[in-house]
Amino acid sequence: MDMATRSSLIDYAALVRPDRVHSRLYLDPAIFEDELERIWYREWVFVGHDSEVPNPGDYRTGHLGKQPIIITRGRDMKVRVLLNRCTHRGNTLCQQRQGNAPTITCAYHGWTFGCEGDLQGMLFREDYPPDFKREDYGLYRVPRVELHRGFIFASLSPTGKSLKEHLGPAAANIDRFCDLSPTGEITMNHGVYRMRIECNWKMWMENSVDAYHVYQTHGSNVYLANMFEAKEGKAPPPPGKGYFGLIHARDLGNGHSDLDMRPQRRVTGMTYTGEWSGDIPQAAQRAYVEGLEKLHGKAKAEQILTEGPAHTVIFPNLFNMLQEIRWCVPVSVNETYIYYAPCLFKGAPDEINTARLRRDEGAYGPAGFQLSDDIEVWARNYQGLQAREVEWILMNRGIHQPVGRDQDGIPYQGDLSELTMRSQWRHYLELMSSP
Ligand code: FES
Ligand SMILES: [Fe+2]
Repeated sequence: MDMATRSSLIDYAALVRPDRVHSRLYLDPAIFEDELERIWYREWVFVGHDSEVPNPGDYRTGHLGKQPIIITRGRDMKVRVLLNRCTHRGNTLCQQRQGNAPTITCAYHGWTFGCEGDLQGMLFREDYPPDFKREDYGLYRVPRVELHRGFIFASLSPTGKSLKEHLGPAAANIDRFCDLSPTGEITMNHGVYRMRIECNWKMWMENSVDAYHVYQTHGSNVYLANMFEAKEGKAPPPPGKGYFGLIHARDLGNGHSDLDMRPQRRVTGMTYTGEWSGDIPQAAQRAYVEGLEKLHGKAKAEQILTEGPAHTVIFPNLFNMLQEIRWCVPVSVNETYIYYAPCLFKGAPDEINTARLRRDEGAYGPAGFQLSDDIEVWARNYQGLQAREVEWILMNRGIHQPVGRDQDGIPYQGDLSELTMRSQWRHYLELMSSP
């Protein structure tokens, strides 16, 4: 049975309702296969950052859905995404995560490819038929690759929406992050945490814009205490009523959503530099702010520092939060890899970038205090779904409440609403039930 026929047998509209979704969407291997075809192998997917391949011949391996890829920087400085599959008999070509090599030779029979994907040499070439053309056997190039502020997105579909159309207002959130760098550039080439989590990829995506879980899941650690400025002796405010209640959960369209902290910052007077610990010397802080003022002008720099970075999930797999970039790769219906990569501000004083790294390690490193909570909850969540006599997962928090429009015309509700997840599922339904 071909994919189109199989898809038409799944009634997604019956599984995705406005206020709830069916457990089968997380459990059924046929639905997972369908998602690969309709989302991961068709839509724009985040694959990496151009700072990972700064020089000609640089490469970084990864995945586009389940398909192995190599991101390369060619001699022409162009970033390409190649499938990591030798065109002879299909071996993966490149085994290392990252490096620099002008050519890559397949370990199986020794075909050699250039960093633009061209087939350059074969062992014992004379035994191939006379009409064999090397040009026909270059590595498969993913047809559409576009960058936004260094974020690399790839699509296996040769046609479709441009990246700009796909990102829509979510692009401004990436800009807010990059604008915090005194050169306007961030770098994501400082190590990465890769974790295998025992759940469906959509659970990670939902959780990344779920403010409701923070109180309970992370309630026992110092994360909340830090957030609520415990250093100043303030107790966390009650859920939905204090600082957190001022955050907006926004629907950015195309499945993207964010938790917009700017309304909270306006009330509390918090600024980006105000959140830094006292460990960063004043001179470094001053140099950082001066760098931003030089790049953007004084008024714009002040606005950037007041607004701070965004907390955004870009459908289906990118999550940009505070000091890092996170993404997920689906492995199977019940297994997902997640990557957490700390980012630095190119050109910022070392003390500031070092503090960013330490903060990242403290929260998300192997002994970090935050991510371990989530990993355990995701696995328990997936276990819970095995109890199939109870079919539905609720997404109805705040659904009865009015939806506002903010100054950018973007729909929002309070942060403890599940509007963000409902917007993900609405887009999911569109993609999965499209012809
Ligand atoms: S599979 Fe790569 S050279 Fe044979
Ligand atoms: Fe969490």
